[in-house]
Amino acid sequence: MDFNPLLHPFQFLYLAIQWLLSKLLSPDPPTPGVKLGRPKIAVIGAGLTGVSAAAHCIGHGFDVEIFEAGPREELGGIWSRVNNTSGLQIHSVMYRFHPSVQWKGGYPNRQQIVSQITELWKKYGLEERTKFNTKVEKVYKDEKGRWIINNTSEGRFDGIIAAVGTCGDAKMPKMDGMDKFKGEVYHSSKLTGKKARGRNMIIIGGGASAVEALEFAAHEEASKTYILARSDKWIIPRNPIINVILSFNILGQETIFSWIPEMLLRKFFYRDLEDLAPTDHGLFTGTPMVNSDVMDKIREGKAEWLRGDIKGFTEEGVIFNKRAKGVKAGGPGEEVVIKGDMIVMATGFDRPTLDFLPEDSFTKPYEPPNWYLQTFPPQHPSVCCNNCTYVNAIGSVGNWHIGIYTRILLMFLSDPLTRPRTFWMERWIDMTRVLKHFAPTGAFDFFTYLELIWWFTFCIAFNPFRWKWALFVFFGIGQGLPRRIVDAEDRLRHQIGYKNGENYDVGGSF
Ligand SMILES: Cc1cc2nc3c(=O)[nH]c(=O)nc-3n(C[C@H](O)[C@H](O)[C@H](O)COP(=O)(O)OP(=O)(O)OC[C@H]3O[C@@H](n4cnc5c(N)ncnc54)[C@H](O)[C@@H]3O)c2cc1C
Ligand SMILES: NC(=O)c1ccc[n+]([C@@H]2O[C@H](COP(=O)([O-])OP(=O)(O)OC[C@H]3O[C@@H](n4cnc5c(N)ncnc54)[C@H](OP(=O)(O)O)[C@@H]3O)[C@@H](O)[C@H]2O)c1
Repeated sequence: MDFNPLLHPFQFLYLAIQWLLSKLLSPDPPTPGVKLGRPKIAVIGAGLTGVSAAAHCIGHGFDVEIFEAGPREELGGIWSRVNNTSGLQIHSVMYRFHPSVQWKGGYPNRQQIVSQITELWKKYGLEERTKFNTKVEKVYKDEKGRWIINNTSEGRFDGIIAAVGTCGDAKMPKMDGMDKFKGEVYHSSKLTGKKARGRNMIIIGGGASAVEALEFAAHEEASKTYILARSDKWIIPRNPIINVILSFNILGQETIFSWIPEMLLRKFFYRDLEDLAPTDHGLFTGTPMVNSDVMDKIREGKAEWLRGDIKGFTEEGVIFNKRAKGVKAGGPGEEVVIKGDMIVMATGFDRPTLDFLPEDSFTKPYEPPNWYLQTFPPQHPSVCCNNCTYVNAIGSVGNWHIGIYTRILLMFLSDPLTRPRTFWMERWIDMTRVLKHFAPTGAFDFFTYLELIWWFTFCIAFNPFRWKWALFVFFGIGQGLPRRIVDAEDRLRHQIGYKNGENYDVGGSF
């Protein structure tokens, strides 16, 4: 179909800006067949984070190898395994996981996301550098301090990017008596091709997947949908300006002003459905769901959102203890039977493990997510666990920060004077704990996007040896210049008797 910019000026502007960003900020892909030098980086996981991080590494001249547990069909990680009707809940302007990404619209669907990941993977010559069907079970060091992945046959690496994500296998909790139910039971991520037309659907769980299953029900023209949620979560409108404003809380926690956005949401978004808004926790404590349609579907009578506990099952549905607002899980309520033809378990995903990392990465009280910048285990400055340690946030998983985290690792590997020692990484964690002392969550259990930018800014500003890397870290610009300075620094240190250690995993700086 022909695209007429005059009829779609905003879309045209969006496309033009993305094209410009790609021209300005995408590092050049390597020339085919070129031999790349060390440091060499192992990337674990070929989802959006792993592919983006690998593209950044190789674009800046670092050799890279991706290890992916799944087969080739699972390139793209979780997005390769969810429903065809799945799509982004947040606006794609907040989902720019690499400068080369070109979104055609605001809310791309699963296929468009996987296709952007695949294009990036091909553009940066990562096809020949990806090992599928290779689950990483352990990583350890050789006598020179180089990383070995699983066993020595995979080669030696100087740095590791773990990008295993947070959504692993579909979680299907065993519930007593469920076998009595005579209809079908599916996980929310396995709905492609399932028939719901004219049927009553019961969704168990009240998170983003439940909202998505509700969208599936609407798409399939289900007769009625019941969402059974045992706890309340905040829902925010699908509006990029509101979403960005909320992520601009630089303190990354509840403040004395949090009642303002909460009140505005209740009055102007929830309106007559204010009963659904949580009262037991504030907005800046958990990941909100981003959706505007859910309220409309409830108002139209097509969906009912019920708070309570599952007591059992009958042949025809679920025995449910409906609780009033404010009554805790397991508390008193009204027992009702919700009848349905099919049950969708929107109960989430198991979290992939990071236990392949050395044991000292999990030393309390500096275990994930309580790591340096949430991502670097304090014992290992050459290990960057990109996008897989977070718990809750207002922001986005697939955005600019993937490149920033990757380039911080590249800076640590390239320049020993920037590589922090364990002591200083732990002090940063302690400092953040103090700053967030009054947060209702743990310091690293919730953050906002602007807080993340503050973490990066602090990391660069705190150490003068990192200043020369600022443009590179934030925008991927000008890596050649700091490298030349590093070479000069190396020569100087050599002359005064300091030898550069080979071990990229030992930090000596602050
Ligand atoms: C339906 C759905 C919609 C979503 N929508 C949004 C949204 O709107 N906005 C948003 O910000 N986020 C959203 N998310 C969250 C989503 O998880 C992230 O946006 C992003 O796709 C995560 O990418 P990732 O590469 O970090 O992880 P994944 O995509 O999970 O990729 C991790 C990869 O690592 C591999 N792996 C794991 N362990 C190992 C191992 N030991 N060895 C080798 N390989 C391993 C896995 O096989 C997998 O391929 C959504 C999630 C779902 C399920
Ligand atoms: N398009 C999108 O943006 C989109 C779509 C889907 C998923 N995602 C992302 O994917 C991740 C996972 O989301 P999700 O909704 O699948 O999982 P989730 O956020 O973990 O929500 C799971 C829901 O199931 C409930 N639950 C779990 N076990 C239960 C049990 N035994 N009995 C009753 N209820 C149970 C949970 O209740 P409690 O809260 O009380 O534990 C919660 O309401 C999130 O990061 C989310 O943002 C995004």
